[in-house]
Amino acid sequence: MTVAPSLEEVLRVPVELGERSYHVWVGPGVRHRLAEVVPGGVGRVAVVTQAAVADAGITVDPGVEHRVFITDNDEHIKALGTVEELCREFAQWGLTRRDAVVAVGGGAVTDLAGFTAAVYHRGIPVVYVATTLLGQIDASVGGKTGVNLPEGKNLVGAFWQPSAVLCDTEALDTLPPEEMRSGLGEMAKYHFIADAGLDSLPLPERIARCVAIKAEVVAADERESGRRAVLNYGHTLAHALEAHGGYHLRHGEAVAIGLVYAAELAHRAGRIEARRVDEHRQVVGGYDLPASLPAGADADGLVRLFSRDKKAVGGVTFMLDGPDGIEPVTGLDPDLVLESLEAIR
Ligand code: GLY
Repeated sequence: MTVAPSLEEVLRVPVELGERSYHVWVGPGVRHRLAEVVPGGVGRVAVVTQAAVADAGITVDPGVEHRVFITDNDEHIKALGTVEELCREFAQWGLTRRDAVVAVGGGAVTDLAGFTAAVYHRGIPVVYVATTLLGQIDASVGGKTGVNLPEGKNLVGAFWQPSAVLCDTEALDTLPPEEMRSGLGEMAKYHFIADAGLDSLPLPERIARCVAIKAEVVAADERESGRRAVLNYGHTLAHALEAHGGYHLRHGEAVAIGLVYAAELAHRAGRIEARRVDEHRQVVGGYDLPASLPAGADADGLVRLFSRDKKAVGGVTFMLDGPDGIEPVTGLDPDLVLESLEAIR
């Protein structure tokens, strides 16, 4: 059995948010250090996890009295009904505001458990043990929590920062390849948000660097009133591809296609040179992710999904690269929007 490293030996990324600041710890076996990051004075811990995570042998010991609450395995756990179930079970156990929640799993578990912690007794501390690449470099950092409604994803939620995040890179060995691909699309995105030399880094350092990029963005704009929107780079097309439902893409694959699309659009809008578009294709290809629309994709249908509640393409905001970095751009010529879709067929 490998001995888990001490917290001094693993990578540590600060998320600077004044009195809500915390650290993200990244390394193999770091989940075994959970007891050291559970806030002092916490009496009991509700561990929320999924059956698949527990079955993969990813368990935790928060070092205080605890109970494990196991949810189903799918995204559908992100529902108000599950929040109510968990809150009722917490109340029946007698969890109080002096106690805490620990979420162990991917983004669905951390979003659900984070939101439950945000609303239970008007808010109790939460610690995340992120076990998927997507969870480690995106969902667990920055305090967005929430659940879905039949009308749309993440429509009910709260900003609720965790007290600490443990990104256990050992857990990634248990991930199915398609789950890993989901995270790689987000990783590709970070190549363009900051010039961070990600290419040359081994995986744990690369994860920590992505977290550091996100932490810097979140510290500057916790509640997404401006800069935080850069984290949605590549997501306009990605969300449309996912919302269509018929393309069966993992989130990371959809983001990868969305990044190349955003580059083609920025190029056609005169914001970046062709060489920058090539860079997008190279990064996405380097992660072995798709750079083209799925066969037979309906461009007009995707444009309608861009607009969703708006009738005209001119009303859609795209996050586009340019001389001053990635920025929101509205009012683009609808022909450019369509032409750029054709360019990635
Ligand atoms: N996933 C985007 C954000 O945290 O803002």
